Amino acid sequence: MGDINPKDVYEFDEVYERLLEMDLNGVPGLTKGLKNVPPAKDLVRLDGKTAIVTGGSRGLGLAIVNRLAEAGANVVIVDLAVEFAESAVAYLSTKNYRVKFFKADVRDLKQIQEAVDFTVKEFGSLDILINNAGLWKIKHYYDFTEEDWDLIVDVCLKGTFFFTQAAANQMVKQGTGGRICNTISVGAYSMENYIGCMAPYTAAKSGVLGITRSLSRELKPLGIAINAVCPPGMVTVGGGHFSMDDDLKALMASFPSVPLGDPDEVARVVAMVVSDIGVLFHGSDIVADGGTRWQLRK
Ligand SMILES: NC(=O)c1ccc[n+]([C@@H]2O[C@H](COP(=O)([O-])OP(=O)(O)OC[C@H]3O[C@@H](n4cnc5c(N)ncnc54)[C@H](O)[C@@H]3O)[C@@H](O)[C@H]2O)c1
Repeated sequence: MGDINPKDVYEFDEVYERLLEMDLNGVPGLTKGLKNVPPAKDLVRLDGKTAIVTGGSRGLGLAIVNRLAEAGANVVIVDLAVEFAESAVAYLSTKNYRVKFFKADVRDLKQIQEAVDFTVKEFGSLDILINNAGLWKIKHYYDFTEEDWDLIVDVCLKGTFFFTQAAANQMVKQGTGGRICNTISVGAYSMENYIGCMAPYTAAKSGVLGITRSLSRELKPLGIAINAVCPPGMVTVGGGHFSMDDDLKALMASFPSVPLGDPDEVARVVAMVVSDIGVLFHGSDIVADGGTRWQLRK
């Protein structure tokens, strides 16, 4: 290995001098310069913003609501699980967070619009949408029914698309842009588990990844960022309460288990993506799964 001639690596010219002064304003209009960057603790704040979190009454959704509200956002939980939602709102108001609940089914376009209207009426704007409501079933392909397919695909995919449509229309009306973040899954990459048996869910979450990428082209010029976050398997109510036939349970148990994630660990990533820390995310899928899609263990 030969010596490096500093002249080949850098010129100690005025650009480098400005670096030493911590001032990168060398490209007027293009860079803001390090002297003027806001502190990171300010960039994670969401004061004055209003968010909707679908499926926010429990599990990952509730963890996201908690983080967004902690960062200063007003939050509306849109969910069907009334008892869970009411308990969540009661708990979060003990922390003085501004959180409200609106009961709506994300498969129903009229109810979606009503949820958006409620949010604007209560808090004055809609700036952030988290499309998180979702569900899944684990079955052999030959056992899935048309009803299973419609339920899974409509909640995960149709709900995400039409909620995004209604929210984006509202954001455009406000003229202040916005942030949309979709919850996907390792299933979006067909890496859900060792045995599969989740084809409708995998199709739906792959579809959510597809509309995230596609819509980013249309939404970027409107000042709206749309991204997706991919969690690992998590211990949640939904995660713990789906039914599975005994033969599938036995098959699953014959493979080594993969560590589960904590919903709050994923919620932190979602909060980052919709804050000014994540200002460059557009049409991105952020995999925050601790390596579980590769079946990595400690
Ligand atoms: N738990 C996991 O292992 C895991 C892994 C990867 C991705 N995910 C995804 O994370 C998201 C949250 O899952 P979770 O584990 O917290 O599940 P969860 O069942 O605990 O919470 C989901 C919430 O969505 C709500 N919901 C379902 N259908 C709805 C509808 N039609 N309209 C309105 N609300 C509806 C439910 O009432 C519930 O409150 C889902 O999109 C799920 O696919 C979960």
